[in-house]
Amino acid sequence: MAGPTESRHGMWSNRWLFVLAAAGSAVGLGNIWKFPYIAGENGGGAFVILYLLCIAFVGIPIMMAEVLIGREGRQSPINTMRHLIKQHHRHPAWVLIGWAGVAAGFLILSYYVVIAGWALYYILQMGSGALEGATAEQAGALFAEFLDSPIELIFWQTLFMVLTVYIISRGVISGLETAVRWFMPMLFLLMAVLLGYAVTSDGWSQGVEFMFRMDFDSLTPDAVLAAMGQAFFTLSLGMGAIMAYGAYVPSSASIFSTVSIIAGLDTLVAVVAGLAIFPIVFANGLEPSQGPGLMFVTVPLAFGQMPLGALFGTLFFLLVSFAAITSAISISEPALAYLVEEYNARRGRVAISLGVISWILGLGTVFSFNYWADVNVLGQPTFFDFASFVTDKVLLPIGGLFIGLFGAWALPKTVIGAQLGIDGGFRAVLWKLLAGAVAPLAVLVVFVNTLLG
Ligand code: PFF
Repeated sequence: MAGPTESRHGMWSNRWLFVLAAAGSAVGLGNIWKFPYIAGENGGGAFVILYLLCIAFVGIPIMMAEVLIGREGRQSPINTMRHLIKQHHRHPAWVLIGWAGVAAGFLILSYYVVIAGWALYYILQMGSGALEGATAEQAGALFAEFLDSPIELIFWQTLFMVLTVYIISRGVISGLETAVRWFMPMLFLLMAVLLGYAVTSDGWSQGVEFMFRMDFDSLTPDAVLAAMGQAFFTLSLGMGAIMAYGAYVPSSASIFSTVSIIAGLDTLVAVVAGLAIFPIVFANGLEPSQGPGLMFVTVPLAFGQMPLGALFGTLFFLLVSFAAITSAISISEPALAYLVEEYNARRGRVAISLGVISWILGLGTVFSFNYWADVNVLGQPTFFDFASFVTDKVLLPIGGLFIGLFGAWALPKTVIGAQLGIDGGFRAVLWKLLAGAVAPLAVLVVFVNTLLG
């Protein structure tokens, strides 16, 4: 009953490399850049608690469903869905899970690369000592000037895209495995340094209070949707990235334990990023709700005041860039694997085409911070806000909803049992309950609530 045991694209060397690669996908700009600024915009506290609940009750079951489906099919998400639909006589419309994921991937990659380019720019800024001893105003002004220059933004966007395309064209598995082996531990170490600085800063208690206070008044329906969207984004769920990675997981690895470790690491990095950033915000009289610029102002400010700050600051943005690259690679994997399978195409060629298309789409995000700063796109303030809204708050949760339903109800008991290592009984019921009911219902309730609210 079990599916194939190998993928034509390659296999992770062992289950720990899958954990590192999937953690590399999950840990990225979503944790260090996005989580603090979204928490800031939504008033912290209650938002953070909801986010943690979403990770536990929606994120983990759906991540398990992605790995389960991917490992059963062992192909790109689109072809995995086609194969499973045919094998188990399911409705052909389920394949939309794969296609929607590819569409979401293009949009996410397009803006992800622009923001990751900002991190590259800050490697240079920190390294040159330009921010040594800077005040909050100076750090803010430097960032504002940078955003005002489309040419510079495009330069860094292009550089990051070239790096991404280079790595994916060389083959994800060996390139990625090597990268995550080295960079993930270093990232953890630097996060600890930054946290250490924040703990000793004047704003520490205010920062902690902001992150964990139970102020349920600030919990609007929009904040609930934002918490759920962030849970999907940060765990790389709902678009088939983890499904694509799941296709390369050895059959012997336990899905539940690997997924729990991945989600745990991801959550740890996000919480530490918040605990490192908010105290600096309060100690310097900055606004927690300042939006996408939050990390790019507070972190340089903190390093600018530390001994050896230029060195650590450079390393920090270098590692943010690596965290972003290990995520960017996974965003393109579903489309890349599909095109390679479908047209027997060379990975390198496909990688370049994908890169060019997302790069062009990414110009919309570049201009969102200057030329088109006032151009509404379908009710969203800018193109960047639109791309972010459509992916995090619509495509990823809806994709996740159907992935959960498929993984719980559309596959035969024997397949689910073999993949999850359970033989019916209580754990099988729990699986159907969580992946097939609680997680999809949570997505649905949040949607309906937001529409009505
Ligand atoms: N999880 C990544 C982050 O937090 O930065 C972003 C991401 C990667 C989203 C892969 C979606 C995806 F498929």
